[in-house]
Amino acid sequence: MVKLGALCALLGMVGASFVAPLNAAIERRVRRTTIPRHELQKRDTDPSLLYPAYNLSVPIDHFHNDSLYEPHIHGRFHLRYWFDAQYYKAGGPVIVLQSGETSGEDRLGFLQKGLLHDLAKATNGIGVVLEHRYYGTSFPVPDLTTENMRFLSTDQALADEVFFAQNVKFHGLEHLDLTAPNTAYIGYGGSYAGAFNAFLRKLYPDVFWGTISSSGVVEAIWDYWAYFEPIRVYADQKCIEFDQKITNVVDKILIGLKDPATTAELKGVFGLANVTYDDDFAQVIASGLDAWQNKNWDPALNDPTFDNWCSAITNSSIVYSDTESLKPKVHDLLKKGGYSHEVDRLTTPFLNWIGWLYENVISSCQGTQDSCYGTHNPANYAQDDITASWRSWPYQVCTQWGFLQTGSGVPANQLPLISRTNDIAYESIICKYAFNITTPANVTAINKYGGFGISYPRLAIIDGEWDPWRPATPHASPFNTTAENRTSTVDEPFILIGDAVHHWDENDLFANETTSSLPPKTIVDVHAKEISFVLSWMAEWKQQKREVTPFRYGMSKPL
Ligand SMILES: *[C@@H]1O[C@H](CO)[C@@H](O)[C@H](O)[C@H]1NC(C)=O
Ligand SMILES: *[C@@H]1O[C@H](CO)[C@@H](O)[C@H](O)[C@H]1NC(C)=O
Ligand SMILES: *[C@@H]1O[C@H](CO)[C@@H](O)[C@H](O)[C@H]1NC(C)=O
Ligand SMILES: *[C@@H]1O[C@H](CO)[C@@H](O)[C@H](O)[C@H]1NC(C)=O
Ligand SMILES: *[C@@H]1O[C@H](CO)[C@@H](O)[C@H](O)[C@H]1NC(C)=O
Ligand SMILES: *[C@@H]1O[C@H](CO)[C@@H](O)[C@H](O)[C@H]1NC(C)=O
Ligand SMILES: *[C@@H]1O[C@H](CO)[C@@H](O)[C@H](O)[C@H]1NC(C)=O
Ligand SMILES: *[C@@H]1O[C@H](CO)[C@@H](O)[C@H](O)[C@H]1NC(C)=O
Ligand SMILES: *[C@@H]1O[C@H](CO)[C@@H](O)[C@H](O)[C@H]1NC(C)=O
Repeated sequence: MVKLGALCALLGMVGASFVAPLNAAIERRVRRTTIPRHELQKRDTDPSLLYPAYNLSVPIDHFHNDSLYEPHIHGRFHLRYWFDAQYYKAGGPVIVLQSGETSGEDRLGFLQKGLLHDLAKATNGIGVVLEHRYYGTSFPVPDLTTENMRFLSTDQALADEVFFAQNVKFHGLEHLDLTAPNTAYIGYGGSYAGAFNAFLRKLYPDVFWGTISSSGVVEAIWDYWAYFEPIRVYADQKCIEFDQKITNVVDKILIGLKDPATTAELKGVFGLANVTYDDDFAQVIASGLDAWQNKNWDPALNDPTFDNWCSAITNSSIVYSDTESLKPKVHDLLKKGGYSHEVDRLTTPFLNWIGWLYENVISSCQGTQDSCYGTHNPANYAQDDITASWRSWPYQVCTQWGFLQTGSGVPANQLPLISRTNDIAYESIICKYAFNITTPANVTAINKYGGFGISYPRLAIIDGEWDPWRPATPHASPFNTTAENRTSTVDEPFILIGDAVHHWDENDLFANETTSSLPPKTIVDVHAKEISFVLSWMAEWKQQKREVTPFRYGMSKPL
């Protein structure tokens, strides 16, 4: 089981830089990015031993014409990357995996073992992991004051990747011109980096020959309550029913009844009597749900927390015997919360939830409960020196992306999976205290690139059926009817991986690790399709190259 304590240890591993005095609740908020936690795990031979890091000197400010970045700067900074040229042969592409909102080190495993590796091998290409500005070591500024965060935008980072493609010289291959457009550049990214790759192809078609947007959250949405919709539909239905009803009891007490004694009794049975704010209390009890996106088809990467929580609350007997004594209080709360008619049915799930939470979350809290679970203390967000790298993704969320995962946004005729006390005001506390931002993110700055409808030749859209981020991708239908289904073609692949969660095509196994059931057929199939359409794109590239080579056909067609 991944405990919250273990999460903190993992966060420590992400970068020695993660020393900001954040509490567990804020860490959870910050980590609720678009990245599954499993990618923070080490794999096989530590890939950082296999691939040395390099830096490219890149302009800090690519847009001196845009007032958003005032005051402008003329300097450059070190953008970090890694590459593997073991499969390279003349004419092969450079395949760039954009690492998105995390240290590039967390994505290095894909160079060794993943679709990136497989594509490089199949195309005789060079695999690259490229870090995103303001993550890992790629900081263009000396500290992270709000003013110095201004160069953190998707537009600037897209321009970084374009600059990379136009200027990189790979160590040991300096004699070759491996820059765009003389060499084919193929982009890949999952999640935020997936959306990034969709924009990359559409905005810079002359630099990137083709891109793959996996679980690309191309539609920025401020109130992203729909995050929980695929979980509601695809998770174990008994688990969902118990979660919805017990969450409804919580809301009827916290929001409906508003009786201090009953609220105290409710917090007390969960062992959270000292959590001051009701919304903080409601957030911590929903910890099990957060883990759904960390599921993976590879057992070595899978986070079992969600399934463990569901097994506990659906067990027909009391799993944690210590909770037996809480029965009378749970009966009382179920009645006060409007479930008199289902006291017998809901008591055991309620007690098992309490027991599971204690064992997996609460017992590891050291210090006061507010210091572990409170998010209302402005002092917790004050740190803004260069080590406060937790600030980067929230800044992107608060300025342009949104994706606040609320319970309050769920339509009134439907029971939410998390408490309605977790509303926009609550989910955006970090915007106010960390950056003094009190207005909604400008999602137009992202959605102007096409949102759900984004399409382009040689832009592949790959998504997961069960992904909580699916309602923000071009495969959002039926969760968002604004998105339209498309027909998949080699030129514009549009593939929904069945029974899959978040960019499940990104990882792979070594050939000597495969079995009859691993990778699952859906993953074997999607990998085969991706390799096949990229090979077709490369055939097109070679065809075009031939056509523009003056020796053979004359300068008939511009590239
Ligand atoms: C890359 O740049 C970073 C930040 O300036 C620096 O810490 C690191 O040592 C550089 N790495 C290499 C390999 O030059
Ligand atoms: C700045 O210039 C780029 C082209 O170099 C253009 O795409 C962009 O729209 C311009 N931005 C503004 C705010 O004028
Ligand atoms: C709650 O606070 C009281 C009073 O400060 C303290 O005695 C008690 O140990 C705390 N309980 C927990 C579970 O933190
Ligand atoms: C229910 O919990 C009991 C006690 O922990 C355990 O032995 C049993 O295997 C669980 N049953 C299921 C179906 O998980
Ligand atoms: C926060 O922003 C408001 C206006 O948006 C401004 O008046 C105020 O001075 C700012 N506070 C801080 C601490 O910067
Ligand atoms: C939001 O972004 C759009 C597109 O970049 C821009 O035109 C608009 O001015 C921005 N709005 C605000 C309030 O900054
Ligand atoms: C689009 O495809 C999905 C998945 O196959 C399906 O659930 C949904 O109903 C389709 N939407 C429409 C409008 O046909
Ligand atoms: C569907 O997408 C639109 C456009 O972004 C958005 O306004 C709406 O909130 C989304 N609906 C759901 C259920 O997410
Ligand atoms: C499996 O293959 C990988 C990659 O080729 C290799 O590094 C590893 O040592 C192999 N493992 C075993 C147990 O042979």
